[in-house]
Amino acid sequence: MSDSHTPSRRRVMAGNWKMYKTQAETRAFFEAFLPLIADADHCDIVIAPPFTSIAAAVEKTKDTKIGIAGQNSHWQKEGAFTGEVSTGMLVESGCRYVIVGHSERRQYNGETDDIVAQKSRSALAAGLIPIVCLGENFTERETGRTEEVLSQQFIGGPGALTHEEFSRILLAYEPVWAIGTGRTATPEIAAAAHQFLRRCVQDQFSAEIAAGLRILYGGSVKPDNIQGLMAQRELDGTLVGGASLEPKSFATIVNCK
Ligand code: 13P
Repeated sequence: MSDSHTPSRRRVMAGNWKMYKTQAETRAFFEAFLPLIADADHCDIVIAPPFTSIAAAVEKTKDTKIGIAGQNSHWQKEGAFTGEVSTGMLVESGCRYVIVGHSERRQYNGETDDIVAQKSRSALAAGLIPIVCLGENFTERETGRTEEVLSQQFIGGPGALTHEEFSRILLAYEPVWAIGTGRTATPEIAAAAHQFLRRCVQDQFSAEIAAGLRILYGGSVKPDNIQGLMAQRELDGTLVGGASLEPKSFATIVNCK
């Protein structure tokens, strides 16, 4: 299998705002951000605001190529699920993507690999592109269990999709120990994990699907480490938390070539 960065693997630079930014802050962000990325034709750009700011984000980006994402969605079309939002609701609000299985949801909301698979299926059925997250925690890495954990999360989650479904998702490798800690994975550590995940994809699906899959890296991505990360051909983009909140810093990340 070739691991070369083929033109079909168009880069994706995504920002996950988590529980940050009101509607007013969202509008102000895009007013500052849009001029800074006006020439960024080399990548897809995605922003995941909180639910309440999605409408403002969609409105501000309507004449741009920026895609808006939900940070979560339920797998059922509708029902008595207080506090939840369906994939159809996200589509109606103008979203094109949804983040699935973020480690913060796995940790605080008990999201399992099976739920990740169900949510991914539901997102695809609604026409959304799921950004499916997985990654090991600190203890798992320290005890040499990274590949075991990644393989388990892969097989029970996105690996449970059909070939056709899987060919439409994005994967995000987010080692938990690197999220919000300032401890970015070195470019080599990130690339090795991506390579391993690509091998899992090849084993489960096919070499062709593995070669076409875009895998994003997330975990303390900053303007000062983006060059090193993007120099790795295995990395097809990034999923950025903290550094996506500030227009200049996210623009620097997006504009890295
Ligand atoms: P940080 O970039 O703040 O480490 O967050 C990464 C992340 O969780 C993106 O989904």
